[in-house]
Amino acid sequence: MSKLRIAVQKAGRLNEDSMQILKDIGINIDNGKDQLKASAKGFPVEVFYLRNGDIPQYLKDGVVDAAIIGENVLIEKGNGINIAEKLGFSTCRVCIAVPKATKYNGLKDLEGKRIATSYPNTVRDYLDKNGVNANLHIINGSVEIAPNIGLADAICDIVSSGSTLFKNNLKEVETILKSEAVLAVSPILSEDKQAILDTIQFRIKSVLKGRQ
Ligand code: PRP
Ligand code: MG
Repeated sequence: MSKLRIAVQKAGRLNEDSMQILKDIGINIDNGKDQLKASAKGFPVEVFYLRNGDIPQYLKDGVVDAAIIGENVLIEKGNGINIAEKLGFSTCRVCIAVPKATKYNGLKDLEGKRIATSYPNTVRDYLDKNGVNANLHIINGSVEIAPNIGLADAICDIVSSGSTLFKNNLKEVETILKSEAVLAVSPILSEDKQAILDTIQFRIKSVLKGRQ
C-alpha cells in the first residue's frame, strides 16, 4: 500500500506547530528529528524533514506529495502548487523595512536602492507593479543585519512579532503580503494517495474547527 509523503520544516518556527497538528489528527511520529524521514504509526503516512526553501521543488517534482509550509514560500517559488487548506498558525507578513533613521515617504524612495532579501521574486514583483527599480541582494538568513553592515539600504523579510526588526533598529514601511502555514499539495498525486490526503484534510478541518 502506498504511503502519503508529507514534508515539514526540519528546523525553525514552523516545525513545532506542524508536528502538533499532525499529532492532533492522529499522526504520531516518535523518532527524533535527526532522522530525515519517519513513518507514522497506524496510518499510511511518511514524514520528511526538509529545508523550507527546498519544499516547493520537491512538491513540483512529486518527490513529496504534500507539505506543511508557509504560504509566503509558495508565493516565492511555488508556481502551480495547490493549497488544500490554510492552517491558521505561523502567521506572519512579508515586509520592507528601512533603518529607523531613514526618512521614508513612499516606495519611490527605494528607487535605485539596495534591498537585501531571501524573497527576491516576491519583492521584484511588488516593485515592478509599482514601477520601482531597485537592486536586490539575495541572502538566506539574518537579513536584518544587512543595513547595519552597509550591505543594503533596506530589507525585505518576514515579520512576525516584530522583535527582529526592533533589535536591529529597523522600521517596517511596506507590507507586501500576509502569510500563514498551509497544507500544500503536489500537482502529481495518484488516486490512492489522494484518498489518504482526503482523510487527512477532513481531520484537519475538524481540528481547526475545534481550535476556533
Ligand atoms: C525569521 C525571519 C525574521 C524573523 C521574524 O528569521 O527571517 O528575521 O524570523 O520574526 P520576528 O518578527 O518575530 O522577530 P529566523 O529567526 O527564522 O532566522 P533566519 O532569518 O536566520 O533564518
Ligand atoms: Mg530572519
